[in-house]
Amino acid sequence: MTTDPLVVFTPSGKRGHFPAGTPILTAARQLGVDLDSVCGGRGICSKCQITPSYGEFPKHGVTVAEGALSEWNAVEQRYDDKRGLKPGRRLGCQATVQGDVVIDVPPESQVHRQVVRKAAAARAITMDPATRLFFVVVEEPDMHSPTGDLERLERALREQWNIDAVTADLSLMSKLQPALRKGKWEVTVAVHKGHKDTVARVVEIWPGLHESGLYGLAIDLGSTTIAAHLTDLETGEVKASSGLMNPQIRFGEDLMSRVSYSMMNPGGDKEMTRAVREAINDLITTISDEAGIDAALIVETVFVCNPVMHHLLLGLDPVELGQAPFALATSESMSLPARELDLTNMNPRAQVYILPCIAGHVGADCAAVALSEEPGKSEDLVLIVDVGTNAEILLGNTTRVLACSSPTGPAFEGAQISSGQRAAPGAIERIEIDPVTKEPRFRIIGSDHWSDEDGFDKDIATTGITGICGSGIIEAVAEMRIAGLLDESGLIGSAEQTGTIRCVPEGRTHAYMIHDSSAEGGPRITVTQGDIRAIQLAKSALYAGARLLMDEMEVDTVDRIVLAGAFGAHISTKHAMVLGMIPDAPLDKVSSAGNAAGTGARIALCNIAARSEIERVVREITKVETAIEPKFQDHFVAANAIPHKTDPFPELSQVVTLPNPSFNTGGESQAGSGRRRRRRG
Ligand code: FES
Repeated sequence: MTTDPLVVFTPSGKRGHFPAGTPILTAARQLGVDLDSVCGGRGICSKCQITPSYGEFPKHGVTVAEGALSEWNAVEQRYDDKRGLKPGRRLGCQATVQGDVVIDVPPESQVHRQVVRKAAAARAITMDPATRLFFVVVEEPDMHSPTGDLERLERALREQWNIDAVTADLSLMSKLQPALRKGKWEVTVAVHKGHKDTVARVVEIWPGLHESGLYGLAIDLGSTTIAAHLTDLETGEVKASSGLMNPQIRFGEDLMSRVSYSMMNPGGDKEMTRAVREAINDLITTISDEAGIDAALIVETVFVCNPVMHHLLLGLDPVELGQAPFALATSESMSLPARELDLTNMNPRAQVYILPCIAGHVGADCAAVALSEEPGKSEDLVLIVDVGTNAEILLGNTTRVLACSSPTGPAFEGAQISSGQRAAPGAIERIEIDPVTKEPRFRIIGSDHWSDEDGFDKDIATTGITGICGSGIIEAVAEMRIAGLLDESGLIGSAEQTGTIRCVPEGRTHAYMIHDSSAEGGPRITVTQGDIRAIQLAKSALYAGARLLMDEMEVDTVDRIVLAGAFGAHISTKHAMVLGMIPDAPLDKVSSAGNAAGTGARIALCNIAARSEIERVVREITKVETAIEPKFQDHFVAANAIPHKTDPFPELSQVVTLPNPSFNTGGESQAGSGRRRRRRG
């Protein structure tokens, strides 16, 4: 039996005997304990901090005496003087084993530290990015055994970090020699190794120890907005989030019109590619400025996007995606240098990873939602709806996962709505209509008060009341239905029919007046019959897509519903159900997942195993095509009624009783709107 001291690591519970004098970092490595180190034990990076515990530990069967670790040494003292070590902490590469000891590895010293997501379902992301920092001491050149600087750097990485083979671009080679000499043969390198790579690539080099961090971008490239999260590749922390409008909107609001633009204008696809790449470059500059980070430290970018955006980003003509069978140039994930996409405002050797597409009509954004929400790991049947200009819909459980995309159009985002606007200060985001008086009260973005509360007027002094945003229009239409201002077919009643002068004539139809400041030169905010029709088209497409997946799964109900998308976070679930956007379900089983596609992108940025995982999951997802499925049209027409023509909503009726007026005087027919089904896009 060995008399060597016992070292027990927590929280892993790993343990082993080591000869006295063994550095804690060495013991950790031999046991496979997750203890970080960038400098390779040279006492300069401070990543290896540990906390020894002293006393009795019956659970581990150990008593730890005072002298269980070597004395505090000069290297630790120097570090403490310079940067400060927390009380009780030691540097794992300096402290050596002298007796039995229990060592705690704090979360920030773990390489594969877990980052808890902010979203409701707190799934942790394990940090294991494709690009990492390594400090190495490189042998100096020798006239008698001549070798190149890159070869000696490669040998140092092999000997000090077990990295077998590395390659480097010419542009890196030009930095290599000055960095090595300036750092006196000590350098930090950023090494990228993708999940499919056999050879690692040195993407950056700094003389000495680089302490300014390493960053990546997770980008959700949508048809309407481009959202980016600047993420610390060591800690997983999101340093800044920023977004801008997709400049391709000037070529067409929805995807299909952009495909048409490409079909009808030679070189149109190239124009759109150029526009989106320029916008992403601008976004990179904005977000790094916001975070106060040198953009050259951004070495990786992960993209999630729908198939049309995917092709336009890559510089591929999307024309095939406009017609059946919707063939993608490739549905595989892509790993490529950022410069091939002209993304030049970050590190010149930065790498890009694009998640796989599920099918020609279901993109990498849907794959990202699947990665983030994991429907395939759910015991109960979950319906996940990512609401955007196109709705991505997933339905599944541990047995099977189905996916489709449905062309909802931009109405849910406040576009194509008469008083619609983007979610910005001044926009009405919440509304209630008194069922008796039919009077509205509302809240705007930028104020915590309702419009009938003290303080509201003061709040709106600078912003004014400017329009109604996506969540506002959904609440407005649903509230109008609850208050009996709107019948099941979606018709707005007249002042006589509804008993309120807020229902004003507008051509042959009516509109409901929410707010009128036209006397003071302000806007007149109404919900018109045209707005109701736009919302009906959008919600029917969404519901029909979900129903199609339920048919395929042979179910009439789902156990729970997750609303995803930046917009999903703001939708009132009750109002969404009154409108019939989503199938009937107990309201407490409807939750919001925030921007699940963006979260999926961040997971793939921080953890390379997640890339392999989603590539596997995507192959197993059953794709359902809405555009060519005849039943989609039937579901669409039936879903035009509010909440629905034929499907019962028993759970909803527990919460709210909907009145049943009929305003159809022959002026506007519901069937007309049913036939005006929006095209894919
Ligand atoms: S490993 Fe870098 S300071 Fe200990």
